[in-house]
Amino acid sequence: MPATAPPDLLRRRQWLGRVGGGAATALPWASQAAASTTIRLSHVVAPDTPKGMTLERFRTLVEERSGQRIRVQIYPQGQLYGDQDEMQALQLGAVDMVAPSLSKFGPIGFPEFELFDLPFLFNSVTEVRRLTQGPLGQRLLERLGRQRLLGLGFFDNGFKHMSANRPLLEPAHFIGLRMRVQASRVIAQQMRALGAQPVTLPFSETRRALETGVVDGTENPVSNFWTQGMQTVQSDLSLTQHGYLGYAVVTHQRFWFNLPAPDRSLVQQALREALMFGNSIADAHNDKALAALQVAGSVRVHRPNNAQLTRLRQAVLPVQADLAQRIGQPWLDALHDALPKERHG
Ligand code: LMR
Repeated sequence: MPATAPPDLLRRRQWLGRVGGGAATALPWASQAAASTTIRLSHVVAPDTPKGMTLERFRTLVEERSGQRIRVQIYPQGQLYGDQDEMQALQLGAVDMVAPSLSKFGPIGFPEFELFDLPFLFNSVTEVRRLTQGPLGQRLLERLGRQRLLGLGFFDNGFKHMSANRPLLEPAHFIGLRMRVQASRVIAQQMRALGAQPVTLPFSETRRALETGVVDGTENPVSNFWTQGMQTVQSDLSLTQHGYLGYAVVTHQRFWFNLPAPDRSLVQQALREALMFGNSIADAHNDKALAALQVAGSVRVHRPNNAQLTRLRQAVLPVQADLAQRIGQPWLDALHDALPKERHG
């Protein structure tokens, strides 16, 4: 982390101070647990998405249970911070919680999180939970402590699909395309393995980049595709279901341990319930977005057949070996141990 904050970050921090955001405002004469607190929570997607709704549920639970003493101020849609600076904002204390996708932890020094980006690794979110709810997920969250961050839990969006101005159903269809990717080396490599050129861009710039032709296509779950209006700048959505997209809720130890213990328990319990709620609605929400997309009718929706899926799977096989080289084979072994046994070999 740089010793001094970039000027725009400082400006926004000053602004936040003015509008009354900030960590616990403990009054010297009040008991600690009675002090009012605002939790500032920044994220990059629309409120009407699995992530947006999960965090909104968190806000409701915290505010209700604390009798409005603990407020949660949510800044959605990258309003304050985008992919590139939200972690830095957390480190600097400009926000108190973020919920980035797991693909965004690699560039800040946690490449092990890219395990979740491996293409065609999971058949269902139930399989993902064998990792996130087990020892491997715990180890991943603990690693965040190296930067004084604290991982509070994982939650799902769902499975990603490919979009462009043509169907993307087999490797030959990707050749020559510039595909927007998150800042994950695994996803970049996946695109290269398919014959495309990966272009890393923040989420908030993706729609515009598609519109202006800076990139030709992208990948995301349907809820993100729909709520960003990508159907107005892409003509074809291919339901490849090739990769998982999920999130981790992260806070800073400085903020967290400054909260009185009873408040920490309240927040933690509210978050646990909000994440369970989010996981229970994510699939349905993506299905709803797909139905809305089909009704809107501006995008053609394609489903790859089995032979096409096999070709896609074959093409991206080398990605796993490359990740093993970067983060060490034991991580991959732990991953495969956590998955159903029929995956071996
Ligand atoms: C993306 O950047 O494509 C998504 O991960 C955004 C999000 O947080 O869902």
